[in-house]
Amino acid sequence: MEKITKNLLTWYAENKRDLPWRHTHNPYFIWISEIMLQQTRVEAVKVYYERFIHTLPNVYDLANVKEDALLKLWEGLGYYSRVRNMQKSAKILVEKGLTNLPDTKEELLSLPGIGEYTAGAILNIAFAKKEVAIDGNVYRVLGRYYKIEEDLGKSTTYKIYERRMKRILPETMTGDFIQSFMDLGSIICTPKSPKCNLCPLFEDCKARKINQMELYPVKQKKIQQKVEERIVFLYLCKDKVAIRKREEKGLLASLYEFPNILSTSSLMDIENEFVVKNIPFTSIMEIGEAKHIFSHKIWYMKGYLIELKEEVGEYIWVTKRELQEVYSIPSAFSYYVDFLMKNCF
Ligand code: ADE
Ligand code: SF4
Repeated sequence: MEKITKNLLTWYAENKRDLPWRHTHNPYFIWISEIMLQQTRVEAVKVYYERFIHTLPNVYDLANVKEDALLKLWEGLGYYSRVRNMQKSAKILVEKGLTNLPDTKEELLSLPGIGEYTAGAILNIAFAKKEVAIDGNVYRVLGRYYKIEEDLGKSTTYKIYERRMKRILPETMTGDFIQSFMDLGSIICTPKSPKCNLCPLFEDCKARKINQMELYPVKQKKIQQKVEERIVFLYLCKDKVAIRKREEKGLLASLYEFPNILSTSSLMDIENEFVVKNIPFTSIMEIGEAKHIFSHKIWYMKGYLIELKEEVGEYIWVTKRELQEVYSIPSAFSYYVDFLMKNCF
């Protein structure tokens, strides 16, 4: 047996919390506790759990209880779809002639509201099968103990933890093993300031050795996307439109674009500006809004089509053909390119 496994089981035997669902192996009871515990704290679940199994002691009773009475039993727990799904599952089981939950992963996963975690927990805790159930506590304890660098935000990371967990799973007492993570994670290996000096894994825990417990499990912060509001100008003069080249560095480097500025000006502001600057124009029109998401930025764009009497500014004046064949306008502007092609040339 791996050292981590032995240490956890020994610690759990002496320190486990006395919780009502730990006095049973009835799959139906374990199922109810696991569903309740998914979005509710252990302390709050205790009373609800006791009342629920007392009122509806088996799958048959759950399948047949009136919805009002069922929801009353759940009142205060929130996320009512959890209990609605439980009743749906109970009805399916009764229809199949079953009196309790099935003991295969495949059958469990086919029931409404039962996913990887719940199926694993039921198989492991109620049926003593060598299955894993990975929750936040498992991520935290394993992530720290082995100093796992993979980001929890990546979909492939689950498999890495699952493989780790399977390698240290004991032959028997799988339910105790899984639940030791839950208790260690709630009492000792807490998200903030873990109590490493009381931890049975102190000696070999890699994150503890370098005093970087809180860096694990690795969860990369979502980058804050900066929002920019821009005005995009389609300057038209005869059969040409104005574009310009972007800077050689940074976002969309060296590509061509329609003149645009950081601004939220209204149609009236823009008209005024043209008058003040004495730029001769025949018409100004709003042509709609567009949004473009870059990796670090979001542009909210508002477009104006402005017909000028003469070419102004330091722009490159191009024909429709040139725009299509010579200049590369990034897709951030595709709404306005399309608008031009459809309406202006
Ligand atoms: N959270 C989810 N399942 C649990 C369990 N069986 N014991 C304690 N906390 C839990
Ligand atoms: Fe968590 Fe500290 Fe124990 Fe490592 S030694 S598992 S960080 S409590």
